[in-house]
Amino acid sequence: MGANKIRVACLGAGYFAGFHYEGWQRIKRAHLVGACDRDKEKAKATGVAAFADLDHMLRMTKPDLLDIITPPPSHLPAIEAAIRAGVETVICQKPFCQSLDEAKQATAIAEEAGVSLVIHENFRFQPWYRCIKQALENELIGELQQVTFRLRTGDGQGPRAYLDRQPYFQTMPKLLIHETGVHWIDTFRFLLGEPDAVYADLRRMNPVIAGEDAGYFIFDYANGVRALFDGNRLLDHAAENCRTTLGEALIEGTKGTLSLSGQGEVSLRHFGALEENTLLHAQDWQGFGGDCVRALMQHVVDGVLDDTPLENEARDYLKVIAIEQAIYESDQKEQKIRGLDFG
Ligand SMILES: NC(=O)c1ccc[n+]([C@@H]2O[C@H](COP(=O)([O-])OP(=O)(O)OC[C@H]3O[C@@H](n4cnc5c(N)ncnc54)[C@H](O)[C@@H]3O)[C@@H](O)[C@H]2O)c1
Repeated sequence: MGANKIRVACLGAGYFAGFHYEGWQRIKRAHLVGACDRDKEKAKATGVAAFADLDHMLRMTKPDLLDIITPPPSHLPAIEAAIRAGVETVICQKPFCQSLDEAKQATAIAEEAGVSLVIHENFRFQPWYRCIKQALENELIGELQQVTFRLRTGDGQGPRAYLDRQPYFQTMPKLLIHETGVHWIDTFRFLLGEPDAVYADLRRMNPVIAGEDAGYFIFDYANGVRALFDGNRLLDHAAENCRTTLGEALIEGTKGTLSLSGQGEVSLRHFGALEENTLLHAQDWQGFGGDCVRALMQHVVDGVLDDTPLENEARDYLKVIAIEQAIYESDQKEQKIRGLDFG
């Protein structure tokens, strides 16, 4: 790449984009050059040079990297515009595109153009999952037997559920897994690899919303390990802020158990013991979810400038979409789905 700073332009200036703009400002080797939103007032509010039209922004600011922070219908056209404008790196928010076919198309055109396309799947960058991964690699809990994550956001009760922060949640035909549970499809992959089979049982608890807001999925692994996602957006968990971790986790092995608390603390209890040792202390994390948005963006900047391997490239992320499809298929058919197609 040659340069020692990356010029970054962003598409989208809605609710979640706030964490991106704030994060970019803390990345030393990145320079924010433009913000685009079809609502130009929102783009202006970022304090960066504001645009309402993407092609115009790309022509005027000539970024090295486009950060797409808009919903799925805009993803493919924005990736096409970035390729046309000669942008070398694109980061795209999840859910990536509107369907697996569209995501495959976006992946193929980026690869053909030699553009690095990374999906903003940020939860694997949360410091607690990095800590748990390290503990597994260091074999701190013996032979892993099972992983459980209980999502308990506590924001889904009553007729006003989600309206203040993410009103679009109320009308999404697929909510719990497509919008949020997808982060644990990827986190389980990060910790355990690709599953052999999935089973799911999904429910809608709040009648004012369109999609599912509670349910389970279980991943089977060839070595006998099982990973369980147990989500219910109406229930909460013990945390000052239920949005720090969105829930609690247990990672259980023959020699011990790792637990993740709602404050982002990771503890290790040896098999047969009562007391726990803290591996990662709760902190006042900046940004969102343990500062995972900034961590992902920092990872991409380092990857591009130092030529180090990138996680979450689009080709790899297609597997997440395929697994998500299998989860909904399992729920609909009321059966386990085997032989997942990652082609
Ligand atoms: N990774 C995470 O942890 C996480 C968390 C929350 C949201 N998200 C994702 O981020 C994306 C944005 O979510 P949000 O909550 O900020 O939504 P939002 O509705 O608050 O904001 C979206 C913004 O994009 C703008 N926009 C939409 N289409 C556009 C287009 N074609 N051209 C220009 N501007 C356009 C809208 O005007 C709006 O300002 C979604 O895909 C959502 O799933 C990810």
